Amino acid sequence: MRNFTYIDLLAFLEIEDAHPGGFELTKRLFNNLPLSSESKILEVGCGSGKTASYLYHLYKSDITAIDINRKMLRKAMQRFKHEQVPIKLHAASAENLPFSNNSFDVIISESVTSFTNVKKSLNEYSRVLNDNGFILAIEMTTERLLLEDEQNEIESVYGIKQTYTENEWISFIKNAGFKNIKVIAGNTISNVPSSSSSSPSFQQLPSSILSMYYKHQEILFRFGYILGYRVFLCHK
Ligand SMILES: C[S@@+](CC[C@H](N)C(=O)[O-])C[C@H]1O[C@@H](n2cnc3c(N)ncnc32)[C@H](O)[C@@H]1O
Repeated sequence: MRNFTYIDLLAFLEIEDAHPGGFELTKRLFNNLPLSSESKILEVGCGSGKTASYLYHLYKSDITAIDINRKMLRKAMQRFKHEQVPIKLHAASAENLPFSNNSFDVIISESVTSFTNVKKSLNEYSRVLNDNGFILAIEMTTERLLLEDEQNEIESVYGIKQTYTENEWISFIKNAGFKNIKVIAGNTISNVPSSSSSSPSFQQLPSSILSMYYKHQEILFRFGYILGYRVFLCHK
């Protein structure tokens, strides 16, 4: 049986806004984008679907959302049905997008690419994005290079084999063919409010889940000034 992962924890607890800065950051980022009902948007790693749905209500755009986790997909599907939003949902990986070249005007990814093979995913974003399209990505960063032990610890909780500094991200993004790379927000995790609007009811949690929850909390505490996030806005 495979190990219980951090993503399983988020899915099990039905955590929404599972990115640093939470829904407040999402609203701040998306309320003033040059989007319209004509825009074709892809949200990669949509989780519970809250951002995709919010975007639809704001702009009535043509939105496609993907995620790799079945529970997340189920939750997103329920939300889209309940809110009657015509968002197309696919089970797919950021590393191998099931879309043809130049299919979207905008790609959004909130705390997702970090969990994937970053080079592969960024190349895929570049491939499916129209010329002049842009990506808006909230990504986990480290404020400095991590020691091997620290990296192993992060991997044991998040499954992320390698974390990157802001400059490393910029270089990956550039290599994937993007230009005008701007860092429009960012902070260490100690300096942002909790990333989730919901908190678990501990009585209901099986021990494997509780243990993952505590490991995550410990990382937030111990790496609070070392781990952070950046919001990258980049054009193709
Ligand atoms: C930290 S959660 C963020 C979810 C959502 N974007 C949010 O902000 O609430 C990471 C999400 O990325 C998804 N994910 C992880 N690896 C993925 C991959 N290779 N392709 C697509 N989605 C992936 C997970 O299933 C999960 O829903």
